[in-house]
Amino acid sequence: MADVFMNTYHRLPVTFAKGEGAWLTDVNGKKYLDFASGIAVNCLGHAYPPLVKAIAEQAAKLNHVCNYYQSDVSAAFAEKLVAACAGVGLKKVFLGNSGAEANEGAVKIARKYSLVKYGPGRHQIVTLKGSFHGRTITTLSATGQDNFHKDFGPFTEGFAYVQSGDIDALDKALDKTTVAGFLVEAIQGESGIKPQSAEYIAAAAKFCAERDILLMFDEVQCGMGRTGTFLACESYGVKPDVITLAKGLSGGIPVGAVLTGEKAADVLQVSDHGSTFGGNPIAAAAALVVLETVNNPAFLKEIARKGEKFQSIIKSWNSPKVKEVRGKGLMIGVDITEDAWPLLEKAITRADAKTPGLLMLSAGAKTLRFLPPYIVSDAEIEQGLELLKGLL
Ligand SMILES: Cc1ncc(COP(=O)(O)O)c(C=O)c1O
Repeated sequence: MADVFMNTYHRLPVTFAKGEGAWLTDVNGKKYLDFASGIAVNCLGHAYPPLVKAIAEQAAKLNHVCNYYQSDVSAAFAEKLVAACAGVGLKKVFLGNSGAEANEGAVKIARKYSLVKYGPGRHQIVTLKGSFHGRTITTLSATGQDNFHKDFGPFTEGFAYVQSGDIDALDKALDKTTVAGFLVEAIQGESGIKPQSAEYIAAAAKFCAERDILLMFDEVQCGMGRTGTFLACESYGVKPDVITLAKGLSGGIPVGAVLTGEKAADVLQVSDHGSTFGGNPIAAAAALVVLETVNNPAFLKEIARKGEKFQSIIKSWNSPKVKEVRGKGLMIGVDITEDAWPLLEKAITRADAKTPGLLMLSAGAKTLRFLPPYIVSDAEIEQGLELLKGLL
């Protein structure tokens, strides 16, 4: 691995050369079954033919215009995305490049909404302990994990953290005189695939509505069909004021989005916000394919079914090494009795000409995280889990 990279990643010992479907091939020709999807990004797998075609055709026509001009493909993407989110009341979208950038947008929207309506001093954003919202200084502030709050201060001020599931604590924290927004992952991804309970989200929605605090869902990891509904918040029956998306949105091309419902639809006005690459035509062309494919009831039902199959196979082992299996759709966490990282490494290094490797993720020291591509077949789920069983 090139020495010139800053030492920011604990990289596993494999170099990939190409991919097809749910499979990757390394530079030595060894095969790996991908149950990680580049952390929920390659939702249609690798080299999905319609995605490749759309990207190649768009690149040959027009790869970028800045947002001072208009692009038909970016407009078509924005319209299709808002239409896909209209069921939960979302009306407008701002396009950026990443999850952190989308969450920065959400924080700005909540703060300006509150400032214009109520004046200064009501700018606090409440998030959950254990949450993860990104790596910029502001989204690190939003991230409710102490280990991220060192070395880089001073951080953006005005964030407070509450324990997930504690409705009384949330009731106290959502003070209508100081709080502008509540930002929540429907299923916490990085901290171990932890779904919020229906009661907790219902209480949050009630408090936010009563106190005019923006209810904001970070669906960067759990959105875009990952849990078997287009948005994870759909299954809670709530109407958020703001939603953020990224990762799977363009199936591998960087893009992020912040969407707003009625209340916050017109908060951002000319010059309030911007992003040079936001809504880039290549990302937009790719996202159109993802939206057309994923936002389809039959396709979403298959994600849910495959996820149930995935979980039930692991549960059927009754393995003493497996403590808990949880998640929704193809977003699955497995608590194990040993450290996850050495297992991730072993699942790669054991690959040889006969046996494929397996790509998994961790989320916490002893939790395996699975985010397979939506196109994974039943046979591939069985094959990958047989590999995992052998490793355990
Ligand atoms: C829930 C959530 N929000 C935000 C982010 C940050 O996204 P990005 O790395 O694209 O900035 C992530 C990344 O893992 C995430 O899981």
